[in-house]
Amino acid sequence: MTYEMILIETPAPGVGVVRVNRPDALNALNGQVTREIFDALDTFDRDDAIGCIILTGSDKAFAAGADIKQMANTDAVTMMMGKDFTDWTRLRRVTKPIIAAVSGWALGGGCEMAMMCDMIVASETAKFGQPEVNLGIIPGAGGTQRLTRAVGKAVAMEVMLADRRLTAAEALGAGLVNRVYPVETYFAEAVKLAEKIASQPRIAVRLIKDAVNKAHELSLTEGLDYEKRNFYLAFGTEDKTEGMNAFIEKRPPQWKNR
Ligand code: CAA
Repeated sequence: MTYEMILIETPAPGVGVVRVNRPDALNALNGQVTREIFDALDTFDRDDAIGCIILTGSDKAFAAGADIKQMANTDAVTMMMGKDFTDWTRLRRVTKPIIAAVSGWALGGGCEMAMMCDMIVASETAKFGQPEVNLGIIPGAGGTQRLTRAVGKAVAMEVMLADRRLTAAEALGAGLVNRVYPVETYFAEAVKLAEKIASQPRIAVRLIKDAVNKAHELSLTEGLDYEKRNFYLAFGTEDKTEGMNAFIEKRPPQWKNR
């Protein structure tokens, strides 16, 4: 598949990178950009050679939000009937772990897209915010829900009502991001983390991602029941036999991903 707004990279074994590449608009997410991102994520998700995906932008901007120029003349009905925003659920359906490698601006839809990923590795220059209120609208790709769950109500309210931008250090302290590195190394560190995850048994990785995501959606009892089913399912894999035998025989496991 050929893309115009994103770049595809495979920097390490098992690691696929989707890089937003719209520098003249600070990677603003118009319909074409998001379609290409979701198509590329789907392609990596189906590719047996890939075990972990990184979604990133440039050092200057992960993404400065949904494309304001595209939305400026759009009315409610067109938004509701169009596919551009409902399509964002395609990101949630990716079964392999996705790491957002974030540097510079992660605003509005950019922040929301990073939060839809499973982990965030940030550069020291990253700035997270939901400035939609300045445009007379509200976050529309999960900001009110995911940011609140990630950092708590008080900070989320300030970010969304008063356009407070969180620095990388603040985002780390608030639990929004996993790690922060200098801008020169954050991407390489994200690749190292992705390579580690890609080397793990794929079925267990998939079952873990699936169960952890349920923690935000189910009651504790339902979530524990869900986890138990995934746990039992893991006992049906060849990797479970190999992993336990390798431990007992004091040797590294050879995963078959079956
Ligand atoms: N949409 C469209 N174009 C954008 C954009 C966006 N979200 N963000 C930046 N750009 C464009 C600018 O219009 C500018 O283009 P021109 O050179 O053609 O004028 C170019 O990118 C560079 O931007 P600036 O000159 O503004 O760069 P700066 O360094 O002075 O400021 C910034 C950077 C603070 C990120 C500023 O660009 C900005 O505030 N951007 C908008 C951020 C925003 O409001 N995002 C939320 C969008 S709504 C949304 O995302 C809804 C949702 O929930 C899904």
